[in-house]
Amino acid sequence: MRTPLVAGNWKMNGSRTMADTLMAGIAAGLTDRPNVDVVVCPPFVLVPQCREQANGTGISVGGQNLGSQESGAFTGEVAADMLLDFGCEYVIVGHSERRTLYGETDEVVAAKARVASEKGLVPIICIGETLEEREGGNTEVVVTRQLSAILEIAGTAIFPQALIAYEPVWAIGTGLTASDAQAQEVHALVREQLAAQDAQAALATRILYGGSVKPDNAAGLFAQADIDGGLIGGASLKAQDFLGIIGAARS
Ligand code: PGA
Repeated sequence: MRTPLVAGNWKMNGSRTMADTLMAGIAAGLTDRPNVDVVVCPPFVLVPQCREQANGTGISVGGQNLGSQESGAFTGEVAADMLLDFGCEYVIVGHSERRTLYGETDEVVAAKARVASEKGLVPIICIGETLEEREGGNTEVVVTRQLSAILEIAGTAIFPQALIAYEPVWAIGTGLTASDAQAQEVHALVREQLAAQDAQAALATRILYGGSVKPDNAAGLFAQADIDGGLIGGASLKAQDFLGIIGAARS
């Protein structure tokens, strides 16, 4: 059985005060330890504070990005070892905002997934098509291309520890969500492609859905056979909403 995982991607939001309130609110709602892995991914500067507040709550902390190099003259980058040093267990890799706004290619994303895995961080590797690509009938082609780069450069051995997050770009922050069936179709395709490399790993790999997941649509998505939880943006900034989504994943 795959334990569901719900990860909150705070993006470039938050402050010390906000993190204090949000972490306390999530922790207060998690008293009975659901059988769901819960991860928060705050901006880098809030990682130490969130890590501290997460102690004893069962909440894990992750970065939103990492540098593909080990260390050195790479201004503005944060290395895997630094995230580990501050208690991160996870890191989001290749979010569509990184791909579209900061030019991260499939190769860069795959290199980051490889470094994260080698160092012992669990990469949450994001893939997904734009609206134009979906409307052009190219969803499968795009997702396959993104996944192939991961398999070629980072290798199959990063699974089943590594996670995939299928996030249709047209559903991120737009209020539009893929229907349960649309999401399941792509998740099944991703699992099939992993299975072609390693059947056992494919069965154990968790594939998250992301894109306007809210407490009221989470249950339908998470009930799909190949959807193992969610990567949550906007709704992870409100403790009650995030807890509602975690609640949907446990049932
Ligand atoms: P959203 O973001 O839930 O606000 O659509 C999801 C994401 O970008 O990971």
